[in-house]
Amino acid sequence: MYNIAIIGTGYVGLVTGACFAELGNRVICVDNDSEKIKKLKSFIMPIYEPGLEELIKRNVNKHRLCFTTSIKKAIKESLVIFIAVGTPPKEDGDADLTAIENVSKTIALNMDTYKLIVGKSTVPVETGKWIEHTIKINIKKTLSFDVASNPEFLREGTAINDFLNPDRVVIGVSSKKSKDLLLDLYKPIKSPKIVTDIRSAELIKHASNSFLAIKVSYINAISKICELSGADVLKVAQGMGLDKRIGRTFLDAGLGFGGFCLPKDLDAFIKISEKLGYNFELLKSVRRINDDQVLSFIKKIKSSVWNIKSKRIGMLGLSFKPNTDDLRFAPSLKIIEKLREEGAKIKVFDPQSMQKAKGILKDVCFAKDSYDAAKGCDCLLIITEWNEFKELDFVKLKKIMRYPLIIDGRNLYDKDKLTKLGFTYLGIGR
Ligand code: UDX
Repeated sequence: MYNIAIIGTGYVGLVTGACFAELGNRVICVDNDSEKIKKLKSFIMPIYEPGLEELIKRNVNKHRLCFTTSIKKAIKESLVIFIAVGTPPKEDGDADLTAIENVSKTIALNMDTYKLIVGKSTVPVETGKWIEHTIKINIKKTLSFDVASNPEFLREGTAINDFLNPDRVVIGVSSKKSKDLLLDLYKPIKSPKIVTDIRSAELIKHASNSFLAIKVSYINAISKICELSGADVLKVAQGMGLDKRIGRTFLDAGLGFGGFCLPKDLDAFIKISEKLGYNFELLKSVRRINDDQVLSFIKKIKSSVWNIKSKRIGMLGLSFKPNTDDLRFAPSLKIIEKLREEGAKIKVFDPQSMQKAKGILKDVCFAKDSYDAAKGCDCLLIITEWNEFKELDFVKLKKIMRYPLIIDGRNLYDKDKLTKLGFTYLGIGR
């Protein structure tokens, strides 16, 4: 059992804190947003993540997990301190690391015994070195500490399972003491553990996320070739994916990758490489291909409904992927912006993110369910592959739509089946 502090209750911090508590540790989660902490104390979740509320309730009730705004208290009471604060993108794509610097300084000024400070946020290579430097210049001379890097690979929507059953645990350390401590902390997790130096651990996270982005953009580029040549990208992905060296995952063509990690980390990695003296052209193309997916989707809509002005467009899905209410860098937002510019009337439905969307989207109607979104529309767009959209009653749908046109940005439906039912159906790359 370890006393752990988690600084920052974003996606990564909250899930990490709850899961370490579930493994039997005593965890204090800290955030400087007092409203958020107040809500968490009343079990009101800032994000929708399956299973998280129950996990937090269980561990708070067992006195293994608590929330506070007092970073000083959390530092004093913990041996291991995870930094999980945000590293938002700056204008130029570079990661803003001021929160990490501030937290490092606060740790140095408030620690009174040995602490292990672990970087959990996705950060550029060499951040560990800067954390160490910041602590060194602010700490009382007699105290010792270690810095480590332990990047998190959890995905939104499956975050708890990803934390408890990861493909690997990456531990970047510079001393035996910190290595032994982290290996012991992760002992209950039966996944392969890789111990590296701190810089390599930091790089593993960026290299992994960017590789996933490459896979998605690659299949999206292939989807273009499929459309131009008359092939079917689903078949191509199946055929490619059976090669064990390639694998089928992350070969779903669609509207491109969104969310807060892949786009942001890709931009940051391009920037980091530039600073280190390498022009990462490959990743720049990956970014361009991704941006183009939304633009070509808009073109597809235009070529199917002719003038967009005053057309009624139904949209199913807003979140950047299913099982999350996260709208950050969601393709839906760009699509709505473009369609609104052209004067479309939009009605949307999403199972989880409507509340968040109401706060940021103007000039769109919010439907009460999928059928309400489709009613009277000239075209129905599939934006997010939520399970409940997979099982729609298409006979009913056809009756209530003004014109039976479905443009499927996630290749959710069987083209032949829908065509037989009288729909005009357009997918991606097929
Ligand atoms: C990702 C990484 O998977 C995770 O390891 C890291 O810690 C955070 O970033 P997440 O952003 O939650 O996780 O989503 P993920 O499931 O990886 O999907 C990323 C994006 O790629 C989504 O927009 C998704 O729709 C898109 N995607 C994914 C595709 O378009 N096609 C695919 O085949 C797979």
